[in-house]
Amino acid sequence: MTINATEQVEGKATFKVGNAFFRTTSQVARDLGVLAAATHQAKTNRLRVLDVMAGCGVRSLRYWLEAQADWVWTNEGNPDISPTLQHNLARAIATGHGQLTHLDANRVFFDCYNRSDYYDLVDVDCFGSAAPYLSTSLWAIALGGLLYLTSTDGRTATGHLPNGSLQVYSAYARSHPAAHEQGLRLLIGSVQQQAASRGFGVEPVFSLFLGQSYRVMLRLVATPALTAQNYGFLGYCHHCGNYQTIDWRKLGRAICLHDQKPLTLSGPMWLGSLHHPRQLQQYVELAAIWGWPDRISLLNLMKAEAAMPPYFYQLGEVGRRGKLDIPKRSQLIQTLQDMGYRASATHITAQAIKTDADIRTCILAARQC
Ligand SMILES: C[S@@+](CC[C@H](N)C(=O)[O-])C[C@H]1O[C@@H](n2cnc3c(N)ncnc32)[C@H](O)[C@@H]1O
Ligand SMILES: [Zn+2]
Repeated sequence: MTINATEQVEGKATFKVGNAFFRTTSQVARDLGVLAAATHQAKTNRLRVLDVMAGCGVRSLRYWLEAQADWVWTNEGNPDISPTLQHNLARAIATGHGQLTHLDANRVFFDCYNRSDYYDLVDVDCFGSAAPYLSTSLWAIALGGLLYLTSTDGRTATGHLPNGSLQVYSAYARSHPAAHEQGLRLLIGSVQQQAASRGFGVEPVFSLFLGQSYRVMLRLVATPALTAQNYGFLGYCHHCGNYQTIDWRKLGRAICLHDQKPLTLSGPMWLGSLHHPRQLQQYVELAAIWGWPDRISLLNLMKAEAAMPPYFYQLGEVGRRGKLDIPKRSQLIQTLQDMGYRASATHITAQAIKTDADIRTCILAARQC
């Protein structure tokens, strides 16, 4: 909503955008961040936030006003945005709820570590690759605290630049129909591996692909969570369209179970759950109190897909490979469930389903729709 030529409102925040980068369409991501922050505050009775790439400061304001943050450190690397930020954050700073700096994000993380000043939520809303901050942001988070990461580097994550993904994720990403989900999984896997190397783990709270941006909310936990089962390789058969996950010990025999053709292997990446359903249920309850029906729908969809395999089948591909009309998503899900399989929609695209049935079974089910 625009108040006048220069002021905007989002949630409880009123702010100027000025010369900062701001997208109204990213509100979904900010709303989920606020739900996570508010839930953390309600549970622990404290909330210190580091908004390290603040833009105009909309997130800082919302964490303070809607999630009741005690303290928000707003940092923005570009000092040209300072007048806008000083205007927007004037009340938070004057009332002793925050500070504003213009430093490089990595300097901020190491400064936090150096002073043992750890945050309950670290928000790293970068554009482009998040790789320079994947390991360093962990230095600024309190144990049990949250890391909210954004990456908009879709080309690297979706297999169009496999050498690039090798450099930033230590993973060889290939192109296949579920490659946007892979973008989330590479991000989680990389942070998981970085955390493990320091004796910690991360727990995905939610993962969101929206508008060509990959966002993950991760909780830092005291014990390593990475295992050979939840961090590994995804195999896609270009011949028949089937997906498989491949055990590390069976990499030398990575062939399609249907037709024995060689698989296109991508990884390693996170193969575990994309979301934490119990946490999401708490966000649903809070979103109901706040009257956010669209966010409830999204969170319920995320809950349903949380425990599904780490890929999806596109409806168009099921139709094309089965020489059928494209099946209706809800009917295909219902038919697969009636056949005894797990099946759900995916938040990533409305034109796909997640299921533990293989592609042949999906085609059989589509014939019955
Ligand atoms: C996507 S915008 C932030 C948008 C804002 N969080 C929002 O929700 O509207 C990313 C911001 O990070 C800043 N930035 C980029 N690299 C940075 C770095 N290394 N350290 C600190 N700030 C940085 C940019 O100047 C830009 O304002
Ligand atoms: Zn095959």
